[in-house]
Amino acid sequence: PAQQQALAQAIARHAQRPGALLPLLHDVQAALGHVPPALVPGIAQAVNRSRAEVHGVISYYHHFRSTPAGRHVVQVCRAEACQANGSEALAQAAEALLGCAMHGTRADGAVTLEPVYCLGLCATGPAVQIDDRLHARMTPERLAQRLQALGV
Ligand code: FES
Repeated sequence: PAQQQALAQAIARHAQRPGALLPLLHDVQAALGHVPPALVPGIAQAVNRSRAEVHGVISYYHHFRSTPAGRHVVQVCRAEACQANGSEALAQAAEALLGCAMHGTRADGAVTLEPVYCLGLCATGPAVQIDDRLHARMTPERLAQRLQALGV
């Protein structure tokens, strides 16, 4: 019911406009924290696209997730400028610190680890976003401190 309600609201806001799919998906994810696969048929119907097209868009955009995230979300920038500043090593450190692979949620549900492709801090990378906060010039040591402070 909560899922259907979120979908109905998103459809009411967007379905009549051209290019409705992305804003509709954004609204559903904002309301539910993810885009449940069970809602894909209804979304497809509302925007007059096939289910495969909707699935394609959800998996193309890293922003969208099909399963609920952990209580905290750690995103490591993997785009070019941050790669040049050591984001690969940072991503590996994050996996080791969290005990969780990229794109994964730890078994206890405490944290989800994700790659992102540019957080707008390219000159001061590597950049990381932890929940709603951006962090520039991140190092494995500082990341460990932040995670400890969050209790994950
Ligand atoms: Fe990482 Fe832009 S490339 S913030």
